[in-house]
Amino acid sequence: MAYVYSHEPSIDRSQRSLLKNQRSSLVWLTGLSGSGKSTIASALEKSLYDRGFHTYSLDGDNLRQGLCSDLGFDEIDRIENIRRVGEVAALMVDAGLIVIASFISPFERERQLVRRLFENGEFVEVYVSTSLAVCEQRDPKGLYRKARAGVIDQFTGISSPYEEPKDPDLTIDGEKIDPSTSASMIIEVLTRRGVLAR
Ligand code: ADX
Repeated sequence: MAYVYSHEPSIDRSQRSLLKNQRSSLVWLTGLSGSGKSTIASALEKSLYDRGFHTYSLDGDNLRQGLCSDLGFDEIDRIENIRRVGEVAALMVDAGLIVIASFISPFERERQLVRRLFENGEFVEVYVSTSLAVCEQRDPKGLYRKARAGVIDQFTGISSPYEEPKDPDLTIDGEKIDPSTSASMIIEVLTRRGVLAR
């Protein structure tokens, strides 16, 4: 970090988001693989887009094919994964966007570190609470089956831990609540925070 200095841009985040007629923020979806994060993220983004808001969706499965393709699933790599995603999300929020991030993000400490990158009210932590049994039964990618068979190691919930959020801004019961109702619940939080005020 030696000899690196900050450069002050001439336009700040509130000016950028004002031009988009919204308040930028980050919706962070955490939960087990198969809990429903990405499906809820899609429903949420579509609903915001339909109302004319400027959004971007960051998804674990997608970022791990590009920016994070050098990372695996041991603890060190998962920490680095979330650190990078947090930094990217911070840039996008600075650009004035409403960002939706869907990552298992199994460790409380890293989720807190991401939260600290944002100003008060900009970060909305949503816990998609779906039990391991239900995720495993859904097994949309067949990964739980592979993990049980020992083909994939360090699989979250099976051979790698998931720490439930201690104090999320919203908990969604991923077993009972459908994606479109889940999206509406998140929109309610964003509305209360003035993110969508016009
Ligand atoms: S995180 O733990 O670092 O936050 P991330 O959300 O980026 O994970 O990626 C999770 C996705 O990677 C899962 O939905 C699943 O499709 C895939 N995956 C592959 N191997 C594993 C593994 N060992 N543990 C969890 N997910 C895995």
